[in-house]
Amino acid sequence: MILSIESSCDDSSIAVTRIADYKLLFHKKISQELAHSEYGGVVPELASRLHAEALPKILEEAKEYLPHIKAIAVTNEPGLSVTLMEGVMMAKALHLALQKPLIGVNHLVGHIYSLFIEKEAVLPKMVLLVSGGHTMILDVKDYNDLKVLATTLDDSFGESFDKVAKMMGLGYPGGPIIEELAKSGDAERFAFPVPLAKSAKLAFSYSGLKNAVRLALEELPNLSRKDMADIAASFQKAAITHLLQKTRKACELYKPIDFAIVGGASANQELRRAFERECAKRGIPISFAKLEFCSDNAAMIGRAAIEAYKRGDFIAMEELKVLPRSCFV
Ligand code: KG4
Ligand code: ZN
Repeated sequence: MILSIESSCDDSSIAVTRIADYKLLFHKKISQELAHSEYGGVVPELASRLHAEALPKILEEAKEYLPHIKAIAVTNEPGLSVTLMEGVMMAKALHLALQKPLIGVNHLVGHIYSLFIEKEAVLPKMVLLVSGGHTMILDVKDYNDLKVLATTLDDSFGESFDKVAKMMGLGYPGGPIIEELAKSGDAERFAFPVPLAKSAKLAFSYSGLKNAVRLALEELPNLSRKDMADIAASFQKAAITHLLQKTRKACELYKPIDFAIVGGASANQELRRAFERECAKRGIPISFAKLEFCSDNAAMIGRAAIEAYKRGDFIAMEELKVLPRSCFV
């Protein structure tokens, strides 16, 4: 079994996964969303303190598995340094106590393997990763063979939902709030510009769209519920259209045979429907992670770690460092 730890942002999570058949034997996550909600975003110092409380509590619940653990996996990049550190310190303590090897897992690779929890991996795939920190199109050939085809020039897809929700005073995380609000809104009321629509660049950008929303809000001093719903729907439409346009471009250039969307924002149902339609048109199979595994969790880290374990890809304790930015971007 592999014990995995995730603490890259605002979710404290530990999982135990059986190596032979990928079975998830234990999985628990304590989310800090409520604690950060009043600030409209994650406060790193607060997050780190909450991890220091939550991780030992979860580990206590997983105690019965400790004698059977063959390796300890932990997210060590990318993420908030002070929160990654909490998981890495726990992993190092377990390494010393259990005398089992360490595996450092890239959080983005973890998101990719959220597709394969309790399953064999099916690769190669073109993967769209949409989270709070990243918006990327990746060519994923294998666990340690992936290439970034496109990334964002500024804000990420999920972050733009967080910022729009914050501008309307709606709390954090903004993704689910905006998606819910958009259901009763008129997506045609505000003609927000689709970012980089006329650019040939294979890249994403969300800061211009965010500013367009800000300007629209400034012109609506007495913001009604209807106004907010219309803004949410119009914004979401432009945000998703941007993903679609650039992914179409990537498909033309790289001709994928299989496609998937991962990351916290892949829980968005409008996004899923839009890409399902697009892939059906092109005859490309599409897959998503189960909803419960879209946002940050240790199950995906454990699943990815099995690939490292099979390759003997371990890391010495003194080599295991926290890297706020990913090694491959
Ligand atoms: O993957 P994740 O849990 O954490 C990071 O690695 O960043 O993603 C969290 C992000 C947040 O920005 C959140 O607002 C966004 O995913 N998100 C959504 C939805 N659910 C979560 N964005 C759009 N629509 C959603 N339904
Ligand atoms: Zn994530």
